[in-house]
Amino acid sequence: MAVEAPYGAPAASRLFFGLWLPQPCASYLHTVAGGIVGRSSGGRLMREDTLHMTLAFLGDVPERRLPALLELAAGLSLPRVPVSLDRLGFWPHNHILYAGSSAPAPALTALADSLQATLLEAGFLTETRAFVPHVTLLRKVMHPGKLPVLPEQRWEAAEFSLARSWRSDRGAAYETVDRWPLQPQEQ
Ligand code: 2AM
Repeated sequence: MAVEAPYGAPAASRLFFGLWLPQPCASYLHTVAGGIVGRSSGGRLMREDTLHMTLAFLGDVPERRLPALLELAAGLSLPRVPVSLDRLGFWPHNHILYAGSSAPAPALTALADSLQATLLEAGFLTETRAFVPHVTLLRKVMHPGKLPVLPEQRWEAAEFSLARSWRSDRGAAYETVDRWPLQPQEQ
């Protein structure tokens, strides 16, 4: 949630780095999640265009620090990574239903770890957290029932994004602040 400064200028934004899903994959997962809402006890469906995998969550970052953050991100040379989503899961503690990976590629975990370490060193994180790759599909789920099998969705992530999030009347809203390419790897 953006924190309002006097005179309407935002003092800080809630920021995170993430991988946005390819459109066909987002569309498919959105449809699967919509089917679960239809037959379970509720849940708020994330909009298709919001589906993403968070790599590093920064929390509230003062606006004055944004130029340094953008410069840091632009200067990174991070590799393209394989992403696989092959299972649906439910976390009772936060009522999230997500698409996850039964065996995340080590390169994906290394990407998130490296980004978190860089942000920590630059003072943009106060702690690093174990990366649990997932894409939130539904929030506020109470009883998801038996979850369907998810046919594997896989792709190579070719860019990463910095996004701003806030709560809106329609649920979580995200805005891309900027995005940068991930580097193709030599074979
Ligand atoms: P979630 O979907 O599992 O809630 C914007 O809120 C993004 O940042 C979401 O992907 C959200 O994950 C993630 N996020 C929110 N708080 C977080 C935290 N404390 N640590 C890591 N990721 C977080």
